[in-house]
Amino acid sequence: MGAPAITRLTDPHLYSHGDPHAVWARLRRECPVSWHDEPDHDPFWAVTTYDEGLEVLSDWKRFSSASGTFLRPNLSDPYPGAGVMMTLSDPPRHDVLRKAAAALFTPKAAAGFRARATEVSRSLLRGVIDAGPHDFVNDVSAPYPLQVIAGLLGVAGEDVERMAGYAEAAVGNIVDLDGTAAQQAHLEVLAYYAEVIEERRVRPTNDVVSAFVLAQADGLDITDDEIILTCDNLAVAAGETTRQVLAGGLLALLADPAELAALRSGAVPLRSAIEELVRWTTPVNHLMRTAVADTLLGDVEIKAGQAVSVWLSSLNRDENVFDRPMELQLNRNPNRHVSFGGGRHFCIGAPLARVMIGVFLEETMHSVARIEQVGEPRRAPSYVTNSLESLPLAFHSR
Ligand code: HEM
Repeated sequence: MGAPAITRLTDPHLYSHGDPHAVWARLRRECPVSWHDEPDHDPFWAVTTYDEGLEVLSDWKRFSSASGTFLRPNLSDPYPGAGVMMTLSDPPRHDVLRKAAAALFTPKAAAGFRARATEVSRSLLRGVIDAGPHDFVNDVSAPYPLQVIAGLLGVAGEDVERMAGYAEAAVGNIVDLDGTAAQQAHLEVLAYYAEVIEERRVRPTNDVVSAFVLAQADGLDITDDEIILTCDNLAVAAGETTRQVLAGGLLALLADPAELAALRSGAVPLRSAIEELVRWTTPVNHLMRTAVADTLLGDVEIKAGQAVSVWLSSLNRDENVFDRPMELQLNRNPNRHVSFGGGRHFCIGAPLARVMIGVFLEETMHSVARIEQVGEPRRAPSYVTNSLESLPLAFHSR
């Protein structure tokens, strides 16, 4: 089924300056599973409705993660870590890798990050409150998650900023495959972790590197390079997403003073506010799978080997699932958003992300009396992440 003419989902301009929600709404109405053969991009299916999207994400036997999980211009180019990294593998390999890391990501383990999240929130807020205009993305929301979970990722405190820069450039690598800066960043990350692995072999700690090094010693078939790729991926998965909920979330609250006031006064439960901000911002725009064999999705025939992209941003606005989906409703209940994905690869860091977002909101509501938007936000020209590159704000204590 071909897509309506307006729908060039790979056009970066659509995300930086356009209205992708209008495009997705039309696709949901007219062509929920649409074929896209767009200039300068290998062709792919786009799934924009909730039920069909979850069907793809939940059925790894029909839709594999092992050839990459994001669209890219040349889908036949080899993808680093394909088939071996946690996020880029299918069962049974995926089950084994996920199990090796699981104990570090339980809700109980996530709650253990509360104190660190509070400390980092306070320190970052101190730097910007009553200090004039700042770029919230650069100064607060980008460093925040990485500083909170640096220890978990095996990154030393003094290396956090450097690694954050690499993680950011590494995401750029997905958007702009020719970027030599991005490739260089990947190399830096790999070199860094090679050293950490050696250290953890001698003295294991309570971090992801140690978990995999210990599993390796216990017989898990994982090479050092694969451990490094997994850690690199974790830094990106954690940092690039959580920051978007904070930046996009504050922007949405500024546009809706009644909801902001409800959050401030405690009129809405923090738990449901977190979920709605995660739905609203949907940091991961789409996920990709590859059809394992010829299959039917609804009444659409998909051929073996074809790329199938699931647009989480669109699923989260599906009118058949969400009441008035284009409205921010902090007390939305139920809220079956798919921002953390679905099926076997459901975000392992979701409990931790919720803790980080909740603590940051509490601390901000407590210490910032007034948030002022002092300039236009800049949206990233990316079909992978749904992100703000810049958000000029001023925080006032009274
Ligand atoms: C609001 C913040 C976050 C969002 C929106 C988010 C989103 C997602 C999504 C959509 C997936 C599914 C990928 C797929 O199916 O291919 C995923 C997987 C994953 N996320 Fe998150 N994530 C967030 C925070 C985090 C954090 C804080 C961490 C780690 C500290 C993390 C680590 C991971 C990992 C390791 C996977 C792969 C799991 C697997 O393959 O089994 N994420 N995330």
